[in-house]
Parts: sequence; structure tokens; C-alpha cells
Amino acid sequence: MINDLWYKNAVIYCLSVETFQDSNGDGVGDFPGLMRRLDYLHGMGIDAIWLMPFQASPGKDDGYDISNYYDIDPRFGTLGDFVEFTHAAKQRGIRVLIDIVVNHTSDQHPWFQSARSDPNSPYRDWYVWSKTKPKDADQGMVFPGVQESTWTLDDKAGEYYFHRFYKFQPDLNTANPEVQAEILKIMGFWIQLGVNGFRMDAVPFVIADKGADEQKPQQQYDLLRWFRALLQWRKGDAVILAEANVPPKQNLQYFGDDGDRMHMMFNFQVNQTLFYALASADTKPLIKALDETRARPDTAQWGTFLRNHDELDLGRLTEAQRKLVFDHFGPDPDMQLYERGIRRRLAPMLGGDRRRLELAYSLMLSMPGTPVLRYGDEIGMGDDLSLPERNGARTPMQWSDEPQGGFSRSDKTVLPVISEGPYGFAHVNVASQRRDPNSFLNWTERMIRMRREAPEIGWGAYSVVETGEKDVLAMRYDWRNNSVLLLHNLCDYPHKIALDLKMGEIGLRLIDIADGGHSQAEDDGRHHILLEPYGYRWYRIGGLDYILRRTEI
Ligand code: NOJ
Repeated sequence: MINDLWYKNAVIYCLSVETFQDSNGDGVGDFPGLMRRLDYLHGMGIDAIWLMPFQASPGKDDGYDISNYYDIDPRFGTLGDFVEFTHAAKQRGIRVLIDIVVNHTSDQHPWFQSARSDPNSPYRDWYVWSKTKPKDADQGMVFPGVQESTWTLDDKAGEYYFHRFYKFQPDLNTANPEVQAEILKIMGFWIQLGVNGFRMDAVPFVIADKGADEQKPQQQYDLLRWFRALLQWRKGDAVILAEANVPPKQNLQYFGDDGDRMHMMFNFQVNQTLFYALASADTKPLIKALDETRARPDTAQWGTFLRNHDELDLGRLTEAQRKLVFDHFGPDPDMQLYERGIRRRLAPMLGGDRRRLELAYSLMLSMPGTPVLRYGDEIGMGDDLSLPERNGARTPMQWSDEPQGGFSRSDKTVLPVISEGPYGFAHVNVASQRRDPNSFLNWTERMIRMRREAPEIGWGAYSVVETGEKDVLAMRYDWRNNSVLLLHNLCDYPHKIALDLKMGEIGLRLIDIADGGHSQAEDDGRHHILLEPYGYRWYRIGGLDYILRRTEI
């Protein structure tokens, strides 16, 4: 396959403009601020930025409630600032993906305002209505415990409207050809302003049949083909990264058998079992999840991640597994959310233990797919659980030990900067970690470089190598005459493992990519390797001259 598929061996960094860097002292992050931090991101070695929603919005769901798709929230700057930003990113070789949120609009969107005011409005059929309250109105809520219903009576319309999410997010009727055309227009607009693709929000709901009579809504997968076709015509290297938390057997429907639908999907199955593995040291469910999500067309790619801006959703684990993860990482009911997840950041979940943080990141970076990092995790930022729901893990970036962590000159920031305790900005910030060669930030940078120099992971095929220990994961990737072997010990005591790489060669060397140490096969033809508690190794099989062995197409 041609090398042009940039997303196959990329590292993506997700951030919210609102909480990244404020440039004008109003307490809210903005595009000029983000531009000043581009060299930081460039230095970290990332390939693409994924921007959370920044369009005009009442901001009741952190921007996932859009009131104008063709303008940006004035608090973040102007469209001119946006284009300056995409240009500046391009100059540094960084691609820009943006969220596209078209399952629903804000209830303040002029389309909805028009639709509710007049049954003959041209926008009436852009939403989903019912004259009577549907029988299943109290089912299918995405935010159980907070959201009460999926159908709400609108006083003005005198009818119920459907909303898969909060009631201020009425669902668009995506079966309506006018709505479909508008979605393509929105994508075309942002592509023209310099973006390289989209993280598509809530894809299974975007393409589902909607309506009061829908007993078993079907998915209209053709829509995905149209989205992709538009991208490919307008900008050949643009991609869609789908948020589709669906059971593994549905994945191929989203990628398309011929790879003609979504380029990428987040791997929620691997995410949840990875956290289970970190909690229990049992790698079996993770290995199963890897196997269940193995099949995908050649051009398709997983997005692998640890934490994102939402709760850590554990809904696909068994009850016993979920309980174990809760017990380890979110025992307090206040740490849990929506009856299925944990609303904490990664570092506090792992007790701030550097060994476990490195293990978690190393594991995530070695999963098949393209890693998606979340801002602040590279310095081990914490959370503020006094903030409601998911906001606890959305606090501003901590740049220095100056007031407000260097995020803003204002002391009234959009969300409070973490200032107390071990995760306060005085202790956890970019400036001090940049000066310390052993900091987590510098470790993360080295790991990103190492990951990018192991394209076998992004492009190749993996196999699990037998270690005889359920708490040690050994994965091998092969691609274009090169191979890497990645070892992870998930438990808190050391493990000596014996690996048979079946290369039939006594004396075959494993070169440690991180520190240059190596392992030699012993007389029994096996490698005997001692892994320290939570230890990990990244080996290249055979030798360092992989660049010379590599074949390019
Ligand atoms: C998924 C997003 O990740 C989440 O933050 C948002 O609340 C919902 N979709 C609704 O747009």
C-alpha cells in the first residue's frame, strides 16, 4: 500500500481551545493563544491536532451544542484567527482535525427556533417530532442519572421532539435529504478553511433511523460513504475519525468492507479492557478485545486512547470487571458517572505512580492503531471533582507556576485552574518539566519519537507471543521486513519470562529501542528477560539497521 496514508503512523493530540491558552486576558482560551503554543506541540512530535468544538454555541455541553456551524464562538477569536491557525499548523507540518457535531444542534439554533415556531417552517422536518409522547420516551438516554428523557414537549410547537442527548440538543432528522446536503456543506466549508478532517461525533446516532415509531432503528451506512466521498473529492488526504462505541461485530460496517466509509474509529473495546488490565493485571480480556477488533480493511485504522474529555466508559465490560475497575480507579461514587464510567484524569486514577503512568502510556502507544493523546496528560495533570459531571477533567492547561498556571492573565478563568494539592499548577506544569530531563513530559516526547520510529505498529500486523504469564503482554508487529517486540508487565512484582520467537536462530538479538540494551537468545533458543514491576521493553528484532532493510512503495 502507498505510504501516503499519513494517519497510519501518526500521533494525534486532542485539545479544547477554550482551556488551552488565553491570549487576551479574558479568562477564556483562544486561537491566537493556541497559535503561540504550536511550537510546544510541534516539539512534542505530534502529527495532528484534534480540536474539540469551537463553533458558536450557548456552551451548555462544552460546545457540543452548536448554534451556528459556519462561525466560531467569538470568545475564541474570529474566522480570520482560525485560518491563521490552520495555516500556522500547516507550516509546521501539523494537520488539523475538528469535531463535527451533526447528530443534533443546540435548541438555540435558528433552524430549531424556526422549526418549533411554525408547522410550515422549511426547517420543521429538519428535526424529529411526535404529536404524542412516545412509549419509549424514558429509554435510550446517553446520560442516565442526569438526562431524564429522550423526548421533550416543546411548548411552542405543541409537539414532542427527539433528543438522544440533553434536552437542549434536539436531534437533526438526518434522513432528510436537505439535512444531508447541509452536513456535506458544513464539511466542505471547514475543509476550505484548511482542516484536514473531522472527528465525527456520535456516528451511530447520526446514521440511525429516528422517529416515534422506530422500534429497532436501522443504521443508514450509505451516509458514511457520502461523507467520505465528499472529503476525498475536496481534499484527498482528509480523514474522518469516528466516535462509534459499537460492539466489535459492527465495526466493519463503519469502516466499510472496501474501506469506503470511515478512515478511523476509536477503539472503545480495547480502551476498556486496557483499563481492566491495568486494574487487575489480567491481560486476557485485552487480548480478546484485540482479536475481536483485528479485522479491518487495509486502509482503515483504529484510534487508540487512554482518557478523553468524557467519562471513562466501562459499559462494555462485564459487571464483575467493571466493579473491579471502579474499585481500583474510581471507588468513590463521586468519581463515577452515568452508571458506567469514571470521570477522573489518568494521573490521579493511577495514584500519580510514575511507573504505572509509563506502563499505561507505553501500552496504549503499542496497541494496533494511531494513538490519540489528551492535552495535559503529557505532564500528568489532575482533575477537580468539585466541578460538575465531565468538567472535572477539563480544567485549563498548566503551563507554569505563574498565576493561573500561565493559562490566563485573568483570575476569573472559564474553568478553575487546579491550584491546590499535588496536581496544582505549582507542582505540575510544562515549564518545570521542560527543564527536567527525567520529567514525564520529556519521557512522553521520547516515547512519541520511539512510537513514530516503529511504523510496524501503525501499519503492520500483530501477533501475541506466548509468555506463559497472564500478567505479561508480549506483542510482536511485522511490516516490510521489519519487526518489533513490545513487552509489558502489568503487575507490581518482577517477572522473568522466556520467549521463543521461533526465528530458528540461536544468538538472534533483540535491541532495546529505548536504552540500547539488548537480549541474546540463549542455548535453548529462547530469550530470558527479567521485567521489573510494571516494567516494559520496546525491542527491535534482529538489529538496528531496520531502515536499510525496509522496502518502500
Ligand atoms: C460525544 C461527545 O464526546 C460528548 O462530549 C458530547 O456530550 C456528546 N457526544 C454529545 O454531542
